[in-house]
Amino acid sequence: MIRINRLIFFVFLLLSCSTLDAQIVPIKASGIVARSIAVFTPAGFDRSETPSLILKHKFQITAPVPKGWKLRPQFSLNDEKASAVFDLKGEISLYGGGEVTGPLLRNGQSIELWNTDNGAYGTDNGKRLYQTHPWVLGVRKDGTAFGIIFDSSWKAVLITNSDKIEYSSEGALFKVYVIDRRSPQEVLKGLAELTGTMEMPPLWALGYHQCRFSYGSEEKVRSIASTFREKKIPCDAIWMDIDYMEGFRVFTFNKKNFPDPKTLNDDLHKQGFKTVYMIDPGVKVDSGYSVYRSGTANDVWVKQPNGKEYHGKVWPGDCAFPDFTMPRTRNWWSGLYKNFMQTGIDGIWNDMNEPAVNDNELPADHRLGTMPYTTPHRGGGDLPAGPHLLYHNAYGRLMVEASREGIIAADPEKRPFVLTRANLLGGQRFAATWTGDNLADPRFMKLSVPMSLTLGLSGQPFSGPDIGGFLENTSGELWAQWIGFGTFLPFARGHACAGTNDKEPWAFGSAIERTSRIALERRYRLLPYLYTLFYNSYKTGLPVMSPVFFDDPGDMRLRSEDQAFLLGNKLLVVPAYAKDPALPKGVWENLSLVEGDRSDAYQAKLFIKGGSIIPAGKVVQSTTEDLLAPLTLFVCLDAKGKASGELYWDAGQSWAYKKGDHSLLKFEAIKKGKTVKIIVSSRTGNYKIEKDLKALQAVVIDKRMTYRGSGDLKNGISVVTR
Ligand code: GLC
Repeated sequence: MIRINRLIFFVFLLLSCSTLDAQIVPIKASGIVARSIAVFTPAGFDRSETPSLILKHKFQITAPVPKGWKLRPQFSLNDEKASAVFDLKGEISLYGGGEVTGPLLRNGQSIELWNTDNGAYGTDNGKRLYQTHPWVLGVRKDGTAFGIIFDSSWKAVLITNSDKIEYSSEGALFKVYVIDRRSPQEVLKGLAELTGTMEMPPLWALGYHQCRFSYGSEEKVRSIASTFREKKIPCDAIWMDIDYMEGFRVFTFNKKNFPDPKTLNDDLHKQGFKTVYMIDPGVKVDSGYSVYRSGTANDVWVKQPNGKEYHGKVWPGDCAFPDFTMPRTRNWWSGLYKNFMQTGIDGIWNDMNEPAVNDNELPADHRLGTMPYTTPHRGGGDLPAGPHLLYHNAYGRLMVEASREGIIAADPEKRPFVLTRANLLGGQRFAATWTGDNLADPRFMKLSVPMSLTLGLSGQPFSGPDIGGFLENTSGELWAQWIGFGTFLPFARGHACAGTNDKEPWAFGSAIERTSRIALERRYRLLPYLYTLFYNSYKTGLPVMSPVFFDDPGDMRLRSEDQAFLLGNKLLVVPAYAKDPALPKGVWENLSLVEGDRSDAYQAKLFIKGGSIIPAGKVVQSTTEDLLAPLTLFVCLDAKGKASGELYWDAGQSWAYKKGDHSLLKFEAIKKGKTVKIIVSSRTGNYKIEKDLKALQAVVIDKRMTYRGSGDLKNGISVVTR
């Protein structure tokens, strides 16, 4: 009887617990950690339950939060699951959330923060993609803005309603950082102060990249490379997808089809190409395979709760997974790159690192597509031990940190290039990204703009889609539309899934080949400007590609525009498909960069902002050629007859720029009478740009007419207009 009573009591307790409303958790500490950045710590917060994997380092409170500070979170706990809510007042446009599908403007949207291999962004779970950015940017009616970081990697849901932002995690309490500044640009700088910025990539990474799953043999790779050169279509990098490996074993080469990677890479280098090779995290369980053996010897694998190695299926079949939360594992992983990179590999592509696991043999409602949530990670150093539910969203970010270190150690002189599919807010410090397995469909083509814009508004400036669409066949029409504006996204790569039609720029007949050439020539001409934007991004955290509302954050018309976009603050790109885009006010003149770009209907329209000078180079086939031969300054005067701009330049590959071995030139133009005089108004850095700059010329775009002149850095350029 007593037993039965006890049982009834327990059942009652269980029922009442699970129906208990969320408990409000008071704020234990709050304070200012940097200019206009406040941190809020809930009572009971324990960093051994929620370590910070997002912030660059620890931040000390330096002052109390001012009394008038409006944005304060309300924390709560429900069944050990922590949430934070912000009530919003007034008309606020919401953005951010990192890698998301759907529109740029995020009012009324929700996303699940659980890194997922979600090919074609499936309709039922389209709210989950490969990355996690617990970050919201809000822009008020007056153009002032705020940003919120929920500093947690636990599985979570982020809801951005116009009157309320809710972040509900499935884990322990976390800190919240709030940035409140006078513009969205200033808020993004604040995000960069907390999470760091992208390092300068090598110049070649800004060129066009050609990929396919897979160019299956050396011969095929060589023929693709040669075709680019024969057809004079600019390209900097050829990518090796998984079939270069021996049975999909990472860090190996297929003996039959890629017998001599060193010679292949050397030969491609001679043609001005770089090579990027894929490395996945799953290591084939095979006692005859050195990587698996050394991983086992170093005890690096993720284990199940019962202590046995966790195995999951990826391309090679059963795989073991490095537990990247352990410093030992990261060191071991970094070390694997040494010999691999010595074959002359230039860049690394880390994929499937959500981590994705194929568990399709399980009944549908048991499939997780990754490790079981309770799988333990051992941690070490700054990271506590914790379950997969905590570390899943950080798995890719920890992996790319280790990859990056390994690549740098293999060649300390060179800036690395790493592309990753999975990542976490702040992960721009370690790798660039692309938007995963999109579909060859106009809907996905149009999504490329808001997706990359949103990544840029979430700290990641270096992103782009698989141009043309990865899954399914691509029509010539779709390719032409896509390359016509895709060429202006920060990361520009064509890619195609196994079994789909050829998707190289020449694969759709001669007319579209010409369209592709024009599109890529435009990108290559713009590289000096793009490189300058990348430098700016590295310095400040501002995106390379921005939404048009950045031109005037107070102009409500622009808030939801996500067809047209800006590159930096001087160039407006309007894709050919754009219907009635909301464009910024003021003077914006057509910019023509190469012959045919105005008459080809597929090319995006380009507009230079009044008051701007845009540095452009020569059309080259790769960045190994002299890009600044000549350097052309496109000048568009403002109403007062003035313009300004800048150029960042350096040696392209090395770290010397960090020690001042770069060149930053500021240009100014002023019209007096009929003459526009363009001068170098300031010059900093030790890099002798004269080595590269073979000639200097200017094109003044004045009331739709263009006027040309040439000169040199010392004396400037005088252009006579009518
Ligand atoms: C994944 C990647 C894709 C790649 C393929 C084969 O689906 O997202 O880009 O081509 O794996 O490695």
